[in-house]
Amino acid sequence: MVSTDIKEGGRDEIAELARRRGFLWLAFEIYGGAAGFYDYAPLGALLKRRVETAWRAFYTREGFYEIETTSVAPRDVFEASGHLESFTDRTVVCKHCKTFFRVDEGIDINKSCPECGGELEAAGEFNLMFQTRIGVPKGERGGKVLDKSEGYLRPETAQGTFLNFPRLLRFNRDKLPFGVIQIGKAYRNEISPRQSLIRLREFTIAEAEVFVYPEEKNKHPRFEEVKERKLRLVPGEGAQAQEEMEKTVEEAVRSGTIANEYLGYHIAKVDEFLEGIGIPRDKLRFRQHEPEEMAHYARDCWDAEFFSDRYAWMEIVGVADRGDYDLSSHASYSNTDMGVYPQQQSQVQAEGEAEKAKAKIIPHVIEPSYGIDRIIYALLESSFYKEQVGKEKRKVLRFKKEMAPIRAAVFPLLNRDELKRKAKEVFQDLRNEAIFVEYDDSGSIGRRYRRQDEIGTPYCVTIDYDTLEDDTVTIRERDTMKQVRVPVAEVKEVLLKGRER
Ligand code: GLY
Repeated sequence: MVSTDIKEGGRDEIAELARRRGFLWLAFEIYGGAAGFYDYAPLGALLKRRVETAWRAFYTREGFYEIETTSVAPRDVFEASGHLESFTDRTVVCKHCKTFFRVDEGIDINKSCPECGGELEAAGEFNLMFQTRIGVPKGERGGKVLDKSEGYLRPETAQGTFLNFPRLLRFNRDKLPFGVIQIGKAYRNEISPRQSLIRLREFTIAEAEVFVYPEEKNKHPRFEEVKERKLRLVPGEGAQAQEEMEKTVEEAVRSGTIANEYLGYHIAKVDEFLEGIGIPRDKLRFRQHEPEEMAHYARDCWDAEFFSDRYAWMEIVGVADRGDYDLSSHASYSNTDMGVYPQQQSQVQAEGEAEKAKAKIIPHVIEPSYGIDRIIYALLESSFYKEQVGKEKRKVLRFKKEMAPIRAAVFPLLNRDELKRKAKEVFQDLRNEAIFVEYDDSGSIGRRYRRQDEIGTPYCVTIDYDTLEDDTVTIRERDTMKQVRVPVAEVKEVLLKGRER
């Protein structure tokens, strides 16, 4: 029954559906658009909010507080973080059409230009940071030009969290470990974003920074809860390199495939979150970075990769061990204390024997970093299927109920005033209960069902002449297309919980 040929005719059927049905629209379209920029249309914005809400709830259960830091920062921040020096991509340029490309699996000097087939040559490193101005440039002082106006758009939320570390530590009563989350826009001036929704120049990133004593990385307090979880792993280096394997989190950590419990715990949590929102497990794996592909701040990194029928394996989340790189660097550039007392010493101090002899240590950071837009793409692609129903092809987005942009649609069976009146009443009552429902009385009932299937609405509630007699409605379920008769008073319960009949 299921056919998921998303490459139909070579076109991107998911991007086409996303545009046509109001999930994602090309930004600045009336001015010709610009590669790497998309706007979330009404249904896309709803879907994105559902994912973000699920993500917040998930990490709040970890006991992490959320903060919100600025998306523009002065030059100093990114000089210290290493982004101005190292946040670069290797490029090639076409000798013929002069187009620049980022070097990746498909493009390098021994390949030909994807635009015109011309010869490619190396064109050096390109920094991905978006530069801007903060206020007006300042004048001279002491013979030195002090231009403090140079600023940059953040390429990750993490730096805002690191800059606040001393205050966050105090907020946390000087105790480790603790985690802090942020969701927000980030910006990367990608060289040649040809992959529609996958490589954006402005995107949403959801990150947790988990601060831990270096010597405690193998003692996660809740490791027991995840240790049995089976993971599909592709290690990057050493004897097992590039060999895909399935291991429990515990086996992976104990055998050294995953370096420590904190990393293992957070990889397991990423797996749990992605499964929870509906990413199929058979399309998910964790691949460790090779040393040369690691970001400048990382000492280890595992990507959660989604298998896309169109783009093959693609990163949707990265889980990095950033060690003390960021805090140490900001400590020395800003001359700020980013250290914590060793654990035993804080206990000694609590007992009143204040002894400052021992040196402070810089915590390590474990960071799960989610690319929300790519997760949206993965949800759209993996939820999409087509099936033949009679003479028609039915297209469906089989979202989990909790993720679907619209929970239910309410229809009058026929375009008659008395049915429309009742349908609007049922619709408004559900809206008043904060259930996101849509009302539709246009076109045939079949067409209205097809439209709701295509946007992933789990239920359609139809009002007919029996409704006016006995106050019951028909509820049709998206995946099975089964219909049940339900009293109006029970509709809410069915929409929220589902019901097996
Ligand atoms: N903070 C993770 C990243 O920049 O990719």
